[in-house]
Amino acid sequence: MSIQTLTTSQFRNLNYANIKFHQKLNFIVGDNGSGKSSLLESIFFLGHGKSFRTSKIENLINAESDKFVVSVKDDQNHQLGIQRDSNGNFDIKINGDSKFRLSDLAKHVAVQVITPETFKLFFGGPKERRRFIDLGLFHVEHQFSDLWRDFRKVLLQRNACLKNKIFGQQFDFWNDSFCQLSEQIAHVRAGYVSALSVELNIWLEILLPELASKIELHYSQGWSNKKDLKQVLAESAERERIYGHSLFGAHKFDVKFNYNKLNIDQILSRGQQKLFLIALTIAQSNLIFKSQNIAPIILIDDIGAELDETSRTALAKAISTITCQLFITAIDQTALEPIIPKSEKYKMFHVEHGVITSEDE
Ligand SMILES: Nc1ncnc2c1ncn2[C@@H]1O[C@H](COP(=O)(O)OP(=O)(O)O)[C@@H](O)[C@H]1O
Ligand SMILES: [Mg+2]
Repeated sequence: MSIQTLTTSQFRNLNYANIKFHQKLNFIVGDNGSGKSSLLESIFFLGHGKSFRTSKIENLINAESDKFVVSVKDDQNHQLGIQRDSNGNFDIKINGDSKFRLSDLAKHVAVQVITPETFKLFFGGPKERRRFIDLGLFHVEHQFSDLWRDFRKVLLQRNACLKNKIFGQQFDFWNDSFCQLSEQIAHVRAGYVSALSVELNIWLEILLPELASKIELHYSQGWSNKKDLKQVLAESAERERIYGHSLFGAHKFDVKFNYNKLNIDQILSRGQQKLFLIALTIAQSNLIFKSQNIAPIILIDDIGAELDETSRTALAKAISTITCQLFITAIDQTALEPIIPKSEKYKMFHVEHGVITSEDE
């Protein structure tokens, strides 16, 4: 989908905003503290029911209010809305009907975000990489969300047995389904990751052509791929009993990106890191688009100054090729101009003290 209009009320410093966006390219400029990230955050919130900046949802409610509202109308006239009050109550509306859950919203909107912190998170540990890949799987592989929900339940049961030292028949029961679901999930993930790898290469050729052919993606499924999970778990039974939780399985998967056998975060400059993550995010968006025909939304906060002339030209080329709706913020309009493709229409917004205005209005 693409967002046609966004309405926010009492979301951070955006007291009230009603904005008509461009179906593909939206650029947002404003000083520090004006509300650029808050605007992206409100869009992200609709797709995820959480923020990319804080785990405390209360922080999103304007300091002088007791609730916020974010709603959008998409290009097919669907209305999605979410209200959250300071007591923790959610009210989610789809086309005027209430009583939906956050996960119902996530089915309608695929939102991905890149911020200056994303790279640190992405290469700081497996958590963010897992989150990234599973977001794609959730949208692309229709059986994945059921599989994952079942797996989570079984993982909790298996961990509870290990923690409380319950063994015998009960443990064997959970262990069997744990292994079976892990193998199924690993199989679906491996297929997805290999499709992602092919798509990534296309975008690296545009954005980082000098490195593209040397960057390799490695998927590890969460246990040695030379052995059955059951065998691995049997061999590590002693250790699991000491730790009291599941040490191997589908929850321990990871993806690594290497350049000449080294992790790319040790090789790439900051500007290159940004381009790499943009390539990866566009690649995932394209897979989502191909499988669902829902054009995903990409938010890029603070495109920043670290991109040189060549990188900006490459980015302009990528932007003109993609099929998602893009929102890019910057402090300075001159940083944005080189990345705006010459032949494309777009909208430019200015934010000042939480007030958003469009250049052509
Ligand atoms: N809950 C809130 N209520 C009111 N103002 C807030 C709230 N949370 C953040 N702010 C303020 O909103 C402003 C906009 O922040 P932000 O969106 O991060 O700006 P930018 O990304 O443009 O630098 C900041 O000045 C911040 O102090
Ligand atoms: Mg910001």
